[in-house]
Amino acid sequence: MKHLFQPGRREGAPVLLLLHGTGGTERDLLPLAQVIDPTAPVLSVRGNVLENGMPRFFRRLAEGVFDEEDLVFRTNELYEHLNAWAGEYGFDRGNVVAVGYSNGANIAGSLLFHVEDSLAGAILHHPMVPRRGIELPDLTGKPVFIGAGRNDPICPPEETYELRRLLEGAGAEVEVHWEDYGHRLTPTEAEAAAAWYRQHFGGG
Ligand code: MLT
Repeated sequence: MKHLFQPGRREGAPVLLLLHGTGGTERDLLPLAQVIDPTAPVLSVRGNVLENGMPRFFRRLAEGVFDEEDLVFRTNELYEHLNAWAGEYGFDRGNVVAVGYSNGANIAGSLLFHVEDSLAGAILHHPMVPRRGIELPDLTGKPVFIGAGRNDPICPPEETYELRRLLEGAGAEVEVHWEDYGHRLTPTEAEAAAAWYRQHFGGG
């Protein structure tokens, strides 16, 4: 998978795994990483599924309707790559925090839903429920930040409540931050994520 890795400059800082939204690239969320933790190593990945030329992390059948088989396949594929990159770049595989927006938040959520210990925590900007009807792995104590829009046309508040319920049901510690700017990732939402991150992972 196309990606970039930037070493950090703080001992013990987690690796920020950046996952862009539909149509993005591995460069999109680099400014966001600077807000979250400018001292952390960054591993930013480009989705390897194309929808009319737009990179994504898994296929969808329609807006908001995921191709579940592909979702599971791509989730495992990303997981395997993470394990390999940890060896290649020499980072602590147990200390990776996902930072995803929209489609990238959905693949990050899918990692949490499908693979035990895939992430040390996650910042999910405007995520959906990645999959229903499965038992989640043990997420006891995993910190998860959700940035959501009260008027998000892609992810209505009910879906955010459902996602929080499912994650908390598996033991995760979830914090939801609400905004009123639809599906947009605003500077105030990024700041809220950064403040939450510093509480759980230091830095700043
Ligand atoms: C998805 O397909 O992951 C969601 O609809 C978000 C997006 O538009 O990418």
